[in-house]
Amino acid sequence: MRASMTVGGERQPCRGLSCVWGDPRGVLGVLALSAMALKNGGQNSAALNALDAKPGESILELGCGPGMGLRGALKRVGKTGHVTGVDQSACAAHFAAHMIHNANLRGQANAMRAEAHDLPFRDHLFDRAFAVNSFQFWPDPARALREVARVLAPGGRLVITQRASNLDRPTNFAGAAAGMDRISQASALLKAQGWNIIDERCVADGARLVAVSVIAERPN
Ligand SMILES: C[S@@+](CC[C@H](N)C(=O)[O-])C[C@H]1O[C@@H](n2cnc3c(N)ncnc32)[C@H](O)[C@@H]1O
Repeated sequence: MRASMTVGGERQPCRGLSCVWGDPRGVLGVLALSAMALKNGGQNSAALNALDAKPGESILELGCGPGMGLRGALKRVGKTGHVTGVDQSACAAHFAAHMIHNANLRGQANAMRAEAHDLPFRDHLFDRAFAVNSFQFWPDPARALREVARVLAPGGRLVITQRASNLDRPTNFAGAAAGMDRISQASALLKAQGWNIIDERCVADGARLVAVSVIAERPN
């Protein structure tokens, strides 16, 4: 299933140039992944702080893109932990696999092509999961959240984080509104599925809006 975008409240397959963010492929895809690696550090940090992973834990990232979130997660779980990234784009999964190559050789990390709504993992495998700037592209977010609940251990935490500003106008409230809208859609689905919402938070860097997140605990 191709990545999608929410247009006027409905999920539609992503098309045209904007698709490069939701379904990176080819040369343009590699350029977009490089830009994400440079520009999305603020959202990755916000998500990882909210995730609060502990040494030795097993972490899943949904829509890992270039793999910078995986690298950040590796630092948090230490040598005894494990991180796994999935991305529906083969180009992104390859890119991320290169970024975590050394940890992969040590048996601590892997990146693979898979869709959030059809995860190739056994039940209760992961302690925590996170998704950064990816939720808006999921073609079936309700099914994806049920899949995440299935692969998380009891009490497992999920963090969904979105960019909260336009890149070129970082203090413009319109960018924040788009991120908040996506997080309120995610929160509504999580609540409907019985997830325990721990917090919804916005992170700013001075006047610059950075990220908005929902933090939830898996339904029992
Ligand atoms: C804008 S990028 C964000 C990448 C990275 N998390 C970051 O913030 O730098 C969105 C990523 O989500 C992936 N994606 C979109 N729909 C997906 C789905 N249903 N399952 C898994 N990954 C998906 C895309 O292929 C893309 O790599």
